[in-house]
Amino acid sequence: MSAPNKSYDPVEVEALKPEEIERMRDEALAAFAAADSLDALQEAKVAHTGGTSPLALANREIGALPPHAKADAGKRVGQARGAVNKALGARQAELEAERDARVLVEEAVDVTLPYDRVPAGARHPLTTMMERVADVFVSMGYEVAEGPEVEAEWFNFDALNFGPDHPARQMQDTFFVQGPKGADSDGESGVVLRTHTSPVQARTMLDREPPVYVVCPGRVFRTDELDATHTPVFHQIELLAVDEGLTMADLKGTLDHMVQSLFGADMKTRLRPNYFPFTEPSAEMDMLCYVCKGESVGNPDRPCRTCSSEGWIELGGCGMVNPRVLTACGVDPEKYSGFAFGFGIERMLMFRHNVEDMRDMVEGDVRFTRPFGMEI
Ligand code: PHE
Repeated sequence: MSAPNKSYDPVEVEALKPEEIERMRDEALAAFAAADSLDALQEAKVAHTGGTSPLALANREIGALPPHAKADAGKRVGQARGAVNKALGARQAELEAERDARVLVEEAVDVTLPYDRVPAGARHPLTTMMERVADVFVSMGYEVAEGPEVEAEWFNFDALNFGPDHPARQMQDTFFVQGPKGADSDGESGVVLRTHTSPVQARTMLDREPPVYVVCPGRVFRTDELDATHTPVFHQIELLAVDEGLTMADLKGTLDHMVQSLFGADMKTRLRPNYFPFTEPSAEMDMLCYVCKGESVGNPDRPCRTCSSEGWIELGGCGMVNPRVLTACGVDPEKYSGFAFGFGIERMLMFRHNVEDMRDMVEGDVRFTRPFGMEI
């Protein structure tokens, strides 16, 4: 800064010369125009309006001028600074607007994206199906009974009147649990993976006094290879009723009620003679095909894929509980009689929902289960 003086001409002070002030102003305007970001503009602002900027230094020179020269120099510097501040504000607003527009694009939220990155699972249709069937009987007053999946051979076979040489005992059907092998043991454990839910019949009768009305859903095991129509692990539902005076007519009425509840009011069942060691008489139970209602039979114009135009769909086995089983389980066959039936859930799911490959049911792919929804 120059020292105060009396006869001072601002034009003579280098920094206050009009063309100098103009140059400073133009440099500042050019710097602002060239700033392509808010950071760059901030730098230009410090350089051209800060305390050590050329115009600020020039402004300080004014204080040293004699009074008559101050107004003239002050006006020049003031106008230049005004123009610089105005340009700065304008450029600032411009760059901020650009930034805001960019942020709107870059940080936009796509509200149509899936909000849930961990989709909830779905209940397996086998579970839903088993519960639907069990519910039909629970609403009739039956209780749900369960038994172990690793079962004593006695419950799985002997109590159910399977002779020691019955083919179902043989290795090709049954998973035998290996026992310890040693000097005093041949490796036989007397334990199997249950091959059906019928052992729950024996357990229930031993467990409680008649009248007995139970429904037994559960997992069963047979030594089948997994393919489109077989699986070594599958599900059955068993029904057992033991009371005074029960007859085959009660069995038939119960079966009809079940298929009507599950498949529609115009459904019915039919029985065909069969053999099971634990029921006598025994029958194979079929239900009317719920798709063609039997109308495809002998009618080539209306073939039915669901029942292969047979008119009936095979469900499972049933019969009157064999008196030998009642006796083995401590129930007096002179006083009580009973009926039982059992069928596979996988099969029912296959024809009810047109599932064509059994493997879809065991692979655990949610794309299979999800379309069945969350029926509870
Ligand atoms: N347990 C038999 C099976 O697995 C089905 C059945 C149950 C038959 C009850 C008669 C009575 O094939």
